[in-house]
Amino acid sequence: MARRELLALLAAMSAGAADCLGGTINPERARELERLVLHDCGSCHGMTLKGGLGPDIRAPTLAGRLPQSLAKTILDGVPGTAMPAWRPLLTEREARWIADYLLDGDRQ
Ligand code: HEC
Repeated sequence: MARRELLALLAAMSAGAADCLGGTINPERARELERLVLHDCGSCHGMTLKGGLGPDIRAPTLAGRLPQSLAKTILDGVPGTAMPAWRPLLTEREARWIADYLLDGDRQ
């Protein structure tokens, strides 16, 4: 296969993968998610996310944690605790966006 065809195939495949995860996050949705994190998550984790009813989820505290596992906690919640499952409101792609957002302290 020619190199150019291979690159086109790879591009098509990664676009497909993004679709499976619920599509890409446009800037408008990113702003909504940011508001959700600060308001809704902040109602338990503290307005600055430094902890309240829920634990501190700021970047330095979460350092070294895998975004996939944080996204899973966000989607499924922590059974038996106040941490709710957000699956009804968020796609997997959006939960992963939030996990990346939490891990990247510069964006907060
Ligand atoms: C009703 C209260 C509540 C709300 C709202 C809430 N959380 Fe939580 N969250 C908790 C509690 C309590 C825990 C600790 C669970 C435990 O004991 O393991 C937790 C745990 C977590 C953890 C795991 C932290 C760790 O160190 O493993 C993450 C990540 C998290 N929440 C993110 C979020 C995000 C993102 C949102 C908003 C989309 C959110 N939470 C909304 C109460 C809440």
